Amino acid sequence: MHSSAASIKAVSAKAKPLTGILTVPGDKSISHRALMFGALAVGETSISGLLTGEDVLRTAAAMRALGAEVEGKGADWFVRGRGVGGLREPADVLDMGNSGTSARLIAGLLSAYPFTSFLTGDASLRNRPMDRVIKPLSQTGARFISRAGGRLPMAITGSSLAAPLSYVSPIASAQVKSAVMLAGLHGPGVTTVTEPAASRDHSERMLRYFGAKVATSQADDGLYTVQLAGRPELTGRSVIVPADPSSAAFPLVAAILVPGSAITITNVGMNPLRTGLFTTLQEMGANIQIVNPREEAGEPVADLVVKHSSLQGITVPAARAPSMIDEYPILAVAAAFASGETRMEGLAELKVKESDRLTATANGLQSCGITARVEGDTLTVTGGKARPSSATPIAVNLDHRIAMSFLVLGMVSDGAVTVDDATAIATSFPGFLPLMNGLGADMREIPIK
Ligand code: S3P
Repeated sequence: MHSSAASIKAVSAKAKPLTGILTVPGDKSISHRALMFGALAVGETSISGLLTGEDVLRTAAAMRALGAEVEGKGADWFVRGRGVGGLREPADVLDMGNSGTSARLIAGLLSAYPFTSFLTGDASLRNRPMDRVIKPLSQTGARFISRAGGRLPMAITGSSLAAPLSYVSPIASAQVKSAVMLAGLHGPGVTTVTEPAASRDHSERMLRYFGAKVATSQADDGLYTVQLAGRPELTGRSVIVPADPSSAAFPLVAAILVPGSAITITNVGMNPLRTGLFTTLQEMGANIQIVNPREEAGEPVADLVVKHSSLQGITVPAARAPSMIDEYPILAVAAAFASGETRMEGLAELKVKESDRLTATANGLQSCGITARVEGDTLTVTGGKARPSSATPIAVNLDHRIAMSFLVLGMVSDGAVTVDDATAIATSFPGFLPLMNGLGADMREIPIK
């Protein structure tokens, strides 16, 4: 894998104490779902706070290609849906860019329509496994033709569902769960999906909000089951997208690490299936106050008041991984400045994200002079003694969260840290550099000649 020809490097040097009140962009997972469920609803859905990162714009373009009207007017977005079962054959290949959520959820949707569509993506997405959705979705009679290992590009010939779907997923994955739910919406009877632990439940919450019947239950051993009644009439709703806790993670960790910092991050999504990083940092000794908790459009939100803190290394149990799966690279950066060792267990899923994040995180830390080791699916970072600096740019491999994590590391490093591709950041966090600089960071882009 290599970066695109038009890549721009970015460099991050020692920051001043971070101060200010800020809001980060809208939640990526919720933004994708608002567009998709809006496209399946009857009437108009209005969305405020939609993330306008590249990943979500791919979903918007796909919904348009499938016949929904999607329009951004100032800060608000409007979707005029076609009803469950009302989407039409797209006239061209659907390009999902870097977005795994778009590819997997839309594969679920398309598996329920009796026409053929084609999905592709960038070099990162074309390397990611789609077999995890092909397997359950094939049950419906849908046919998939993909490259080896279930990789994109992929053709999908859907089928009209004749029987209810039932799937026991071997992994806790909101993408797999949601893909099956999107197919099941189009079929008769009750679709059942079970996962070994609960992954983020934004689909369940938002489908209920749009009028579907969704029941969930969790067994003592963590096994989580969703039951969804098929062929509901979904009604267009007004969705308020909270700020993305996975994006809030970057200024949050930066404020904890940079001495003298005190910031407030407002309107952060606090869905308990997303807040594992906040819990972990608090256990490590971070001063994070959760204030003004409230609920908006079926999702909990709050403001976070964060101050510089000294951290102690801990063991982060595997059971917590689903609630912070995207936050391990930035947690590993925090761990480099904690006293002692931080052990992060149960990270197998990190290998199949936008890049192999387990390897990318360990390699990046090592190249900054920090002791980090991978044993199986455990990452251990030795903190405390490091005075990091990197002589060579960190390889981003089309992965936005690797880029942002190492730019945060640069804020507290002896020498500046450079990442080899800052363009990847636009997939989830447009305006990251100016926002961080407004707080006290010293980050800038370096165009590659
Ligand atoms: C997402 C689910 C997670 C997460 C991704 C977004 C979603 O992936 O890593 O960034 O919106 O459903 P998995 O379902 O593969 O764990």
